[in-house]
Amino acid sequence: MDTAATYNDKVVRQFSIMVVVWGIVGMLVGVIIAAQLIWPALNFDVSFLTYSRLRPLHTNAVIFAFGGSALIGTSFYVVQRTCHIRLAFDKLAAFVFWGWQTVILLAAITLPLGITQSKEYAELEWPIDILITVVWVAYAIVFFGTIVKRRIKHIYVANWFYGAFIITVAILHIFNNLSIPVSLTKSYSLYSGIVDGMMQWWYGHNAVGFFLTAGFLGMMYYFVPKQAGRPVYSYRLSVVHFWSLIAVYMWAGPHHLHYTSLPDWAQTLGMVFSIILLAPSWGGMINGIMTLSGAWHKLRSDPILKFMIVSLSFYGMSTFEGPMMSIKTVNALSHYTDWTIGHVHSGALGWVAMMTIGTIYSLLPRLYNKEGMYSTKLIDVHFWTSTIGVVLYAVALWVAGITQGLMWRAVNADGTLTYSFVESLKATYPYYGLRLVGGLLFFSGMLIMAYNVWKTVSDKKPVPVAVLDPA
Ligand code: HEM
Ligand code: HEM
Repeated sequence: MDTAATYNDKVVRQFSIMVVVWGIVGMLVGVIIAAQLIWPALNFDVSFLTYSRLRPLHTNAVIFAFGGSALIGTSFYVVQRTCHIRLAFDKLAAFVFWGWQTVILLAAITLPLGITQSKEYAELEWPIDILITVVWVAYAIVFFGTIVKRRIKHIYVANWFYGAFIITVAILHIFNNLSIPVSLTKSYSLYSGIVDGMMQWWYGHNAVGFFLTAGFLGMMYYFVPKQAGRPVYSYRLSVVHFWSLIAVYMWAGPHHLHYTSLPDWAQTLGMVFSIILLAPSWGGMINGIMTLSGAWHKLRSDPILKFMIVSLSFYGMSTFEGPMMSIKTVNALSHYTDWTIGHVHSGALGWVAMMTIGTIYSLLPRLYNKEGMYSTKLIDVHFWTSTIGVVLYAVALWVAGITQGLMWRAVNADGTLTYSFVESLKATYPYYGLRLVGGLLFFSGMLIMAYNVWKTVSDKKPVPVAVLDPA
């Protein structure tokens, strides 16, 4: 079978390369802001290098540029392979690639300039929001158009997860960004007060649930079985996993607004749904890990599988930690502390980035007709730098966060605070240093990956892809 004529892999190749590029850029900015938290003078008194401007640049670059490129690119690959048909609308698919890269470029220009809606993860101003909407609708048309054209009746479960991610992100983006523009670079949200807060965290939490989770579960359900050479452990469980996750995630957002002016019943509702969320999350994690049953020995020789299994373990850990942090009494300790940042990165680095990295290593040789990546040894080195990096990052901030929480709530017998804020900051510094080391390790792994990708892609010896990827 001539896959070059059958499938549109050009757009997948483009997205895959950009995953590595944006991963490096986004994580470099992460390392810089981690350093700024220790040495604030690193902003050199230049407005666009200040922490407040670089932080949203980091979050946008890692979530939407790195994660987004991985999600769109792999969904285009998976939908073609599992539907046995070429992507619908080649030109529209190309538009999705260039449109998404334009959005990222505009973000990289406007955020350092301080042009922002001041909504976390939805900072971009209204003209960019409109472009995002147009690109996203084009993406939906290409993805669902391919599903409609499919040659086989069954729609593989990975496509359900990708599909839910596409539909939900469209709805979240449109409703959270409704605003009244006053100029090209300034708008005011349609919502105010706690209604704005509720909208924002309905968006924010489901961005975690659908952007950083459902889409990556789609990736997991295709690439883990593929790499392990085994079918999904339980297909029935994957369907139950899908519907329960979709049903429960939507209601958990208020756990971001504990002890605010949001009505108490809504906070409790968010807490209860967050605890219930543990069940579908762990169902998915177990399904992914158990896919390796009978193939555990492959972990010894295949560092790509190691990335995937450690990723699933971090998925399990962060989806255990999240429900715990959503319990109001626990949140009273964790909120505002670095515990939250530790939780974020055990999900973002441990789960999202490691699944992405494993997937790209698995995918690239197929896309470029190679027998494998240039160096398996370098993948192994990357695996260890990432794993040690993320463990240092998460552990440092767990300790820092709990220390901060306990210091802030400590009171003397006469009711006065035992510690000033500055004392808690001083206690945090060593852990900020440890986080920086962890971040640097993770970042250096990305540089190793870039070298390995470059050598793989530029190697001139082709291997017929049909041998590698008969599906
Ligand atoms: C080298 C790797 C990375 C480093 C050193 C790093 C560092 C940082 C730092 C210093 C912050 C600000 C924390 C604060 O305000 O106290 C941050 C925030 C954040 N980062 Fe990263 N990061 C890295 C990778 C990633 C990746 C890959 C993702 C997502 C896929 C990610 C997602 C986020 C998010 C969502 C926040 C905001 C958290 C919140 O507001 O609670 N980071 N990061
Ligand atoms: C069952 C699953 C999960 C639950 C119930 C959950 C719950 C929570 C809770 C309670 C917070 C702290 C809210 C606060 O005090 O402000 C939080 C923060 C956060 N979580 Fe999770 N979490 C889950 C999984 C994940 C995963 C897998 C990721 C990443 C891939 C993630 C990313 C984040 C981010 C980015 C924040 C910080 C939001 C912000 O304040 O900017 N969570 N989560």
